[in-house]
Amino acid sequence: MTAVGIDAVEIWTGNLKLDLPGTFAPQKGEDPEKYTKGLGLNASSFPDSYEDIVTMAANAAYRLMDRKGLEPDDIGRIDVATESAFDNSKPVSTYVAGCLEGVFDGDFHHANKGERKFACIAGTQSLDDAYNWIRAGRNRGRAALVIATDTALYARDDAGEATQGAGAVAMLISEDPSLVELSTHQGYGSADETDFLKPNQQFPSVDGKRSVQVYLARMREALMDYESVAGDIHPDDVRFVPFHTPFPGMVRKAGLLGYRYLTRDTAIEEELAEEIGRQPRLEAFDTEDAYHDAVREYTDALKGTDRYREWYAETIDPTLTISREVGNWYTGSVHVARASALKHALETGEDATGETLMVGSYGSGAQAEVHTETVQAGWTEEIGALNVDEQLDSRYDLSWAEYEEVHDVHNHEMDVEVEEFTAPESEFVFDGWGRMGERKYRFVE
Ligand code: COA
Repeated sequence: MTAVGIDAVEIWTGNLKLDLPGTFAPQKGEDPEKYTKGLGLNASSFPDSYEDIVTMAANAAYRLMDRKGLEPDDIGRIDVATESAFDNSKPVSTYVAGCLEGVFDGDFHHANKGERKFACIAGTQSLDDAYNWIRAGRNRGRAALVIATDTALYARDDAGEATQGAGAVAMLISEDPSLVELSTHQGYGSADETDFLKPNQQFPSVDGKRSVQVYLARMREALMDYESVAGDIHPDDVRFVPFHTPFPGMVRKAGLLGYRYLTRDTAIEEELAEEIGRQPRLEAFDTEDAYHDAVREYTDALKGTDRYREWYAETIDPTLTISREVGNWYTGSVHVARASALKHALETGEDATGETLMVGSYGSGAQAEVHTETVQAGWTEEIGALNVDEQLDSRYDLSWAEYEEVHDVHNHEMDVEVEEFTAPESEFVFDGWGRMGERKYRFVE
């Protein structure tokens, strides 16, 4: 069977940043370590006044197509995943195609375009759609462009305000991919939940604490489902575990859950037993509450063991480096985590070809998905081409008053104008409104 997977990736961050311990924490009267240590975040990315989900998506896609020497004819499908859409009918992918047609020769008139919605998991679902389209033999030799783009803004003073972010990840899905091959097996954990939603409103209604619990519950189900089709996974067989990362502190919890699950009934559990006992089994308890208390106690003890700390440092921590500096990108977050892990491997001179990634995606509402990927020989070239560090370094650092203005500019219910903080260069920008209320864009040289 021909390999199908991610051939190339590009990341585009919003051009502004908010320093969480330095600027946000003092205004909230909070200890800066709540952000750096608790949530695990140093900064959030924000869109400048001329940026939105379309510009960030088109800019990531432009970098990708330009670097890979692609023309519109090479692309048979453009899927955009977002939970920040501003139109209930016209998909963001049509705007993105329009932008790209302005700078490339040819057009995307014979490409299938769509928009995927299921909170933060929609980016991974779009990868699935592209994978299935290629596997079904319907691609006519063409590749798919999948773009996850979001402005993850919360209402002012919502608890989620600390975990905002804005950015896009563009991925090229093709046969014989250079970056990772996707596995055929998948596991799902899905249920009708109300942890986070936007019922025809821009900013989410969130039950933050519950959303953390729902994430973990669905992820556990997805792991069980994955193992039921692909067989048991041993922690030593997996090099990195990129999880959906709304904030790194969430992934600290997911990492513990994953390790506990993967080591159950293995020699590792027995070895750890000398120090912290064996994992609790439901059948040994009279009530579910007593069992859950015991699980919490075991998990707390596990967190402190050298064995777990080493695994976390090697397998999970490298996935969080970019996220710490950008906050939540919703649909793009798990794809940022993958890129972050491979960037770490490249920078430490590791030969990751052939290694397995276990990817845990999540979307509120709620659904988790687990699959594995195999790193391909071309990964060093692909990851080496990312300029994410330069992008992060060149963001404009907002003062508190400027942050308040930027939040208002992007609030659909407010009509305010703010001078741009950065000067766009070789990128698409928002260029005002058309006669039917459509957004217009242009490329700035
Ligand atoms: N030093 C170190 N850690 C600190 C700290 C300090 N001074 N102050 C707080 N913390 C820790 C807390 O113990 C907590 O960690 P824990 O969960 O491991 O116990 C963490 O920092 C967050 O603190 P908390 O008081 O729970 O923050 P909060 O009430 O502001 O809410 C969220 C946190 C995640 C609920 C909130 O940011 C939110 O609603 N986010 C949006 C929803 C979301 O992203 N959900 C994730 C699933 S998709």
